[in-house]
Amino acid sequence: MTIFTIDQVRKTFINGEVEEEILKGVNLSLREGEVTALVGASGSGKSTLLTIAAGLQPASDGAVLFEGNNIAKMSSEQVRKIRATQFGFVFQFAHLVPFLTVEEQLMLMLEVSESKINKRKHKKEINKILKLVEMDHRKNAYPSSLSGGERQRVAIARAIIHQPKVLFADEPTASLDSKRSKDVMALIRNLTKTLSIMTLMVTHDEEMLSFADHVIKMSDGQILQSVV
Ligand SMILES: Nc1ncnc2c1ncn2[C@@H]1O[C@H](COP(=O)(O)OP(=O)(O)OP(=O)(O)O)[C@@H](O)[C@H]1O
Ligand SMILES: [Mg+2]
Repeated sequence: MTIFTIDQVRKTFINGEVEEEILKGVNLSLREGEVTALVGASGSGKSTLLTIAAGLQPASDGAVLFEGNNIAKMSSEQVRKIRATQFGFVFQFAHLVPFLTVEEQLMLMLEVSESKINKRKHKKEINKILKLVEMDHRKNAYPSSLSGGERQRVAIARAIIHQPKVLFADEPTASLDSKRSKDVMALIRNLTKTLSIMTLMVTHDEEMLSFADHVIKMSDGQILQSVV
């Protein structure tokens, strides 16, 4: 089922006197249970598109429909609420809080995400998700004692602990070696399928494309071709 539609999205920035069009009318439709990878040269507009889809910045024109509702027309409070409850985020670096244990990172996320999960069930839910990402044996560890791949697995757990419908990932494997990158991508793909999440990710790494259901190539603010 299509849960996300990006319709004729444009984005312009004013750089000094010059107006630059960074996205030039992008159309996409994204389904739950599928991983879509955005690829393309540096500066082609991948992160801009991802952050507009995620409601982190507004489009200059066009519609961003999440479950049929246009995020582009919502108040910032409405968008914030959708982000907090329905979206999860993973970036190049895990950005874990250094003085919190793995379990506490997830606890914090459950608190700020206004999750519907009953407070008494938080620990149980955290255990369940940590098992899914194979980090339950390290729940009392601090980030400094984890490897890069383990930190990224915790970041993924944190991105899905509040049961979002959508996962946005901007170069989630860019700081990892080839073996760990594949493990992280296999995990993202697996979670997308088992939890019926819609995943939109940006990657530079050709090796990661085999984990995607769709590969969308961007060039100079436009979708060049949709591979697969
Ligand atoms: N807030 C902004 N103000 C002005 N220009 C911006 C802004 N954000 C992005 N840009 C410009 O838009 C273009 C696209 O940026 P974007 O970050 O989307 O590229 P990208 O495809 O993600 O590149 P990379 O692969 O290097 O991450 C770049 O030229 C960038 O400088
Ligand atoms: Mg980028």
